[in-house]
Amino acid sequence: MTSPRKTYIIANWKMNFTPGEASLYLNRLQKRIPAGRNPQVVLAAPTVALQTLSLQIDRRQCKLAAQNFYWRDYGAFTGETSISQIRSFVDYALVGHSERRYIFNESQEDIAQKVAAAIRNGVTPVLCIGETALERKDGETAAAIYNQLTSGLHEVSKEDISKVIIAYEPVWAISSNKNAKPAKPADIEKAQMIIRQDLAHLYGKDIAEAVPILYGGSVNADTAAGYLEIEGIDGLLIGGASLIADTFCAIVETAKRIKNER
Ligand code: 13P
Repeated sequence: MTSPRKTYIIANWKMNFTPGEASLYLNRLQKRIPAGRNPQVVLAAPTVALQTLSLQIDRRQCKLAAQNFYWRDYGAFTGETSISQIRSFVDYALVGHSERRYIFNESQEDIAQKVAAAIRNGVTPVLCIGETALERKDGETAAAIYNQLTSGLHEVSKEDISKVIIAYEPVWAISSNKNAKPAKPADIEKAQMIIRQDLAHLYGKDIAEAVPILYGGSVNADTAAGYLEIEGIDGLLIGGASLIADTFCAIVETAKRIKNER
C-alpha cells in the first residue's frame, strides 16, 4: 500500500564542518541528487553555516534545518540564536535531540517551547524522542516515548500537529554513545506503533496517520534499506554516515528506490 506520507532523509551534521566545508559538501550533493520532493532531502547544518548554504542551495533538491535555537524570538539572551533570526534560511528545525536533552540539560518545558516557537515562525519542528539504555532495560520504553511525546507536543493544537515531524532515536542506538548498538528493525517497528497509538490518543486516529515518523541511530548505507522497509517509518535522521556526501547520496538513492517501489 502506498503511504500517504512523504519520505524524509535528513542529515544531522552535528558540530562538524566550517561554512566552507559545508558549502563544498552541498556542491557535491547537488551534482548527484535529482530535484524532487520524495524523498525530501534535508541538511541539518551548524548554525554558523546556514546563511552560506541558504544562498547556494537549490530548494528543489534539498532544504535546510536548524540543529538548535532558543525559543524566545528576540531579547537579552547573550549568545543565543532565535528561530525568528534564522527562519529565512531553514524550513525545518531539530528539537529535543538526546544530545541536547542529556549533554545540555534541556528540559521538557524548553522542548515544548521550542516546538511551539518553530511552528509560530513557519518552520517545521522535527521532534526527536527516544528512550535511554537504562529505560529500555527497565522495560520503560513505551512510558519514555509517551512522556517525551506528550510533553514535547504540549503546546501543539490539533490544527498544528500536521506541521510536526517525529524522529524516533533510541539513545542506546546513536553512534556517539559508548556501547551503541544498532537497533533491530523489529524494535523500530514496535516503537513506531507505540508513537502512532500515542498520537492517536492525543489527536485522533486520522491525524495520527498523517504524521511522518522517522528513524535515527547508527544508520549507514548498508542498513538504511532495512529501516526504510519498515511499515510506518517515513524516513531517516542520519548522523555519522551523513558526514560523507557520497554515503549520504547513496542513502537518498536507496530511499527513492524503496519508497517509490511501494
Ligand atoms: P548516528 O547516525 O551517528 O548514530 O546519529 C544519529 C543521530 O543522532 C541523528 O540525529
